[in-house]
Amino acid sequence: MESGICRGMGLIRATLASLKFRRLSRWIKRGRDTDFAWSVATTGSWIPRSQSNPLREFFDARRDQGGPGICKWRHYFEIYDRHLCRFRGQQAYVLEIGVHSGGSLAMWHDYFGAKAFIYGVDIMPECRAYEAPGIKIFIGDQADRSFWRDFRRRVPCLDIVIDDGGHEPEQQIVSLEELLPFLRPGGIYLCEDIHGTGNKFAAYLHGLADRLNDAAQINDFPDDDTRRLFGRTTAFQSAVGSMHLYPFVAVLERNAIPVAELRAARHGTQWQPF
Ligand SMILES: C[S@@+](CC[C@H](N)C(=O)[O-])C[C@H]1O[C@@H](n2cnc3c(N)ncnc32)[C@H](O)[C@@H]1O
Repeated sequence: MESGICRGMGLIRATLASLKFRRLSRWIKRGRDTDFAWSVATTGSWIPRSQSNPLREFFDARRDQGGPGICKWRHYFEIYDRHLCRFRGQQAYVLEIGVHSGGSLAMWHDYFGAKAFIYGVDIMPECRAYEAPGIKIFIGDQADRSFWRDFRRRVPCLDIVIDDGGHEPEQQIVSLEELLPFLRPGGIYLCEDIHGTGNKFAAYLHGLADRLNDAAQINDFPDDDTRRLFGRTTAFQSAVGSMHLYPFVAVLERNAIPVAELRAARHGTQWQPF
C-alpha cells in the first residue's frame, strides 16, 4: 500500500518535472534563436585589453624557445588571469586534470610561484615523468568516483581545479561533483573545452545555474524597510557565489564565507508618487 503511494508520488513528481522542462524548453529555444541586432562599434571597445598576461607570455615563450608542450586556446589566458590572479604568490593548492606533455603544469608553477602546490591528474601512467619539485602527479580516471575519494585523502585541500582532461560530459560532471565540495572557501573551479551547441555538460551547468536563483525561502516583510525581502539560502547558494560562462570555458566561484541569507531593502525617502 505504502509503496503504491510512493510510486504514485514518484509519477506525479516525474510528470511535473517533465511539464516544467517542456515549459522551459520554449524559453531555451527562444534564447538560442533570438536574432540580436548588434550595434556596430565605431569608436572601439571601452574594455581595455590587458597589456601583459604572464600566462600568455609563458605560452608564447614555449613557441619561441621550445620546451614541454602546452595546448591551450589563446582566449583562455584572459579568463585564467581574471579569476586566478589573487592566488599568485600564495600557498595555493592547484589541480589540473589532463597533464599530457607536462608544459601546462610548469606554466602553473611559474604563475603561482614557489609557495604553491601543483597537482596533475592523468589517466596515462607515463605522465608520472612530469613530476618535478612543487609538482605532484596522480594517475587515475577522472570519471571514477573511487579515484577521487582516494585523491581527497592524499591531498590536504584544493583552492583551484582546472579540468582539461578527457572533455567527455560524464568525466566533467563526475569531476565537478567530486571536487567542487572539496574546494576551500573562496576556491575556483574551471572547466575547459566545453565544445558544441547542445553540449551535455553545458546543459548540466544550466541546471546548476538555475539553482542560484532559487527563491523558495524568500519572504516579504512589508512593514520593515530594512528587510523588505529576506530568505535563507539553499546549501548550493550558500556555497557557490557565482558561475561564469565564456566560449568553451565555465568558471564556478565558491563563496569565501558561507552565505546564510539573502535580503533586499529599500533605501531613500522619495518614491514615485503614482
Ligand atoms: C588536452 S590534454 C591536456 C593538455 C594539457 N593540460 C595542456 O594544457 O597542455 C588531455 C589529457 O587528458 C588525459 N585524459 C583523457 N581522459 C582522461 C581521464 N578519463 N582521466 C584523466 N585524464 C584523462 C589525456 O591522457 C591527456 O593527457
